[in-house]
Amino acid sequence: HLLPKLFEPAEIAGGVAVIVDVLRASTTISFALANGAAAVVPCETVETAQQVRASAEQGHCLLGGERGGLKIEGFDLSNSPDDYVRSIVEGRLIGFTTTNGTMALLRANQADVVMIGSFVNLSAVADRILADSRPIHIVCAGTNGQISGEDVLFAGALAERLTDTESCSPCDSADIAISHWRQEYGDGSRQAIETALRRSQGGRNLIDLKYDKDITTAAMVDELSNVGVLADDGRLR
Ligand code: MLT
Repeated sequence: HLLPKLFEPAEIAGGVAVIVDVLRASTTISFALANGAAAVVPCETVETAQQVRASAEQGHCLLGGERGGLKIEGFDLSNSPDDYVRSIVEGRLIGFTTTNGTMALLRANQADVVMIGSFVNLSAVADRILADSRPIHIVCAGTNGQISGEDVLFAGALAERLTDTESCSPCDSADIAISHWRQEYGDGSRQAIETALRRSQGGRNLIDLKYDKDITTAAMVDELSNVGVLADDGRLR
């Protein structure tokens, strides 16, 4: 799905959804969990995130995310993966809200399984879904309702791994994503992926906001081996 609005939530019930917002929500969530966060709670609004903090044990919950790419007033953490280091997030609950990634995730939550995909855990996600016989829905978050190159790039990288199996029949959107990936990825190195990410709209936005370093982080293919999965309680672990 090149954009969340291109599917009806009921369409993906019974399937496995991989939520993709490479720059930066899915990368950041993956780092938060890899660095020991107890759970990440995706929240639609700033107010919902504040309620998550209010109902948690005093001092246990941090708030993270962005609006307009910047840290939200009164929040502890921005949407930069750099903020989610072990010394800060280990053992903590994180109420998390972002403009596009969180919304894509919440729209897809009727799927049987909802997991978080990004270049930093590409192989770990691929291994999980290759072992699953249910329909796979790769959900690109996009940016403010527009298709974003960086998410389609990752969708293509992931879809390509699946099409190596006999039982896979990719839809046209997946074929488009795979073509995009093959055209952009160059030699498949982290450097080639970073160059493609920098050229994307999301990349250009981050460069304008002086978050260039997050693009380098997002291109660290297979840096992590964990996969964030949405549990029945609405928390990612
Ligand atoms: C989002 O969810 O809209 C993005 O992750 C925005 C950002 O890069 O901060």
